[in-house]
Amino acid sequence: MCGIVAYVGSKPVAPVLIEGLKRLEYRGYDSAGVAVAPGPDQGVVVGRSVGRVSVLESLVDKDPDRYEGCLGIAHTRWATHGAVTEHNAHPHTGRTRCGHTVALVHNGIIENYATLRKYLESKGHDFYSETDTEVLCKLIAELYDGDLEAAAQKALQEVTGAYALAVICDREPHTLVAARKGSPLIIGIADNAYVVASDQSAIVAHTTQVIHLNDYQVARLCAGPLDKHKDPPAPWAVDFRTTTLENEIVSQEITELEMDLQQIELAGYEHYMLKEIMEQPEAIRTCLRGRIDQREGRVVLGGLNGLARDLVRAKRFIMTGQGTAYHAGIIGEYLMEDVAKVPARAAYASEFRYRNPIIEDGSVIVAISQSGETADTLAALHEAKERGALALGAVNVVGSTISRETDAGVYLRVGPEIGVASTKAFLGQVAVLTLMALYVGKRKYLSTTDAASYLAEFARVPDHIAKIVEHSDQIRDCVKQVVDRNNWLFLGRGYNYPVALEGALKLKELSYIHAEGMPAAEMKHGPIALIDEGMPVVFVATQGSQYDKVISNIEEVKARGGRILAVATEGDSHITRYCEDGFVFFVPHVPEPLQPLLTVVPLQLLAYHAAVIRGHDVDKPRNLAKSVTVE
Ligand code: AGP
Ligand code: GLU
Repeated sequence: MCGIVAYVGSKPVAPVLIEGLKRLEYRGYDSAGVAVAPGPDQGVVVGRSVGRVSVLESLVDKDPDRYEGCLGIAHTRWATHGAVTEHNAHPHTGRTRCGHTVALVHNGIIENYATLRKYLESKGHDFYSETDTEVLCKLIAELYDGDLEAAAQKALQEVTGAYALAVICDREPHTLVAARKGSPLIIGIADNAYVVASDQSAIVAHTTQVIHLNDYQVARLCAGPLDKHKDPPAPWAVDFRTTTLENEIVSQEITELEMDLQQIELAGYEHYMLKEIMEQPEAIRTCLRGRIDQREGRVVLGGLNGLARDLVRAKRFIMTGQGTAYHAGIIGEYLMEDVAKVPARAAYASEFRYRNPIIEDGSVIVAISQSGETADTLAALHEAKERGALALGAVNVVGSTISRETDAGVYLRVGPEIGVASTKAFLGQVAVLTLMALYVGKRKYLSTTDAASYLAEFARVPDHIAKIVEHSDQIRDCVKQVVDRNNWLFLGRGYNYPVALEGALKLKELSYIHAEGMPAAEMKHGPIALIDEGMPVVFVATQGSQYDKVISNIEEVKARGGRILAVATEGDSHITRYCEDGFVFFVPHVPEPLQPLLTVVPLQLLAYHAAVIRGHDVDKPRNLAKSVTVE
């Protein structure tokens, strides 16, 4: 959700800001804006608009000279305080006591904004918006005494809540100040310039050298002519420092981004989501590369080095995340108990963090997250660590907050996921959790033969996925016949129950059709009352230990007029008697613990096609954010 881009350097700033915002659109937002400092003591020019970044771009293009300058900030807003209006859009501004202008963009929530607003009104500040962000901006303006970094440090000592921010002042036309607490912010060190952004995709076009700002840290970034009065212009200098809120210098590690532009381009696909579904065979190959030793039946997870004994002795695994990541967590729960024979449970992070959880000795929490920035998952991680749990991560974005706050972890390595609806990252999460279960199981009761057999099957999963995605057109033709129905059920048993949950979520978030996932047996305890003539009911019904029970559930639904769609095992001729032609999506046979890696793929395509047929914005569904960094 929401996004920040800021720049100080030698290039014209407006195009850099707009291009950066476009790279962040996938995160989800409702309005956007830019602010540029044209030069010393020349004020700050602000442009804001509701809707897409393209609307803002047109606004800037109408009067490009107005937005000239080499220092600027930009924002995509995901409203929390105040309606979606131009007045509430960022950047926000404030006047200093000496008549200069401060402009600020912010991700997060300032929880004590009401109290601060009253104080600032008593100091003569007039407010034009309903936002908490304007309060933060005017607080910095109020405390400004010729040093923007110092004013930001002092102001942030007064606020409670979460923030990632970038702030400028027209009195300091070569200085950009950034800070964070609880919302992500990355600093790119470019040629003669600095780029600040909420995530890597807005930085990678400029540099791969980055600093990951930490909570309670402030960065002062300067780029400009050494001596502006010289003629010809003096040589260009760049300088940065990071401090605490108390102005103590903090050393920073400069790291190399692993992402490149090619990875985040559409590469000829109509949507990022389709690209990412089709990339899944290669994504899982990359995820598994170097991590499977088939001969020895061993899993090699460098990220867990030194923790093998702790994990073998673990008494319980807690899999935590939100949304799709939570569904992967349920699969992780089943895998740990089934393959590694260790007690495990999945927990919604948002519930876990507040329920005063019991963490016994030997507990391990696994924080599952594509972005590595989900606020509830980060908070659950902190809660478990404070109570003594060993903290592992299953995260995609390298260097993200969750990945840096865990004791160890295993990166998904599926590449950047731009589509808001998670697909390849879900598969990566399930693959990593499968590797973890085999890693522990092999060190406990899993025989080398069984482990080697699982790993041999696991190594074939990418090829199986490649076969499944070839049936995309069949799935589309099926969806066309049922996409007008507004209530669906997704049912499955065992490992396929969380897959049913994931299929329902995909359909909801992409096509806005109401869909509910549940254990197939649970249907009889109430939801069966929903079934009417022609209601689409999707069964994840691969052959396995509960296949006959699922067939009984299919018969119960059919008897009440339900229209059956099914994900089934190749060669299953029995299930076809319950479904119309083209309504069965076959997947290759694999052992039950590996089935989620295959059975979810037809459901991803089903949801994708439903969204396209219904004419929705596939990559940026309404109201959704790619990373929910607020509670
Ligand atoms: C997935 O399709 C959703 N967009 C959403 O449920 C997502 O999985 C959830 O917000 C967790 O995000 P994370 O994996 O980045 O933590
Ligand atoms: N709380 C701020 C607002 O509502 C920032 C929201 C965001 O993170 O985009 O404007």
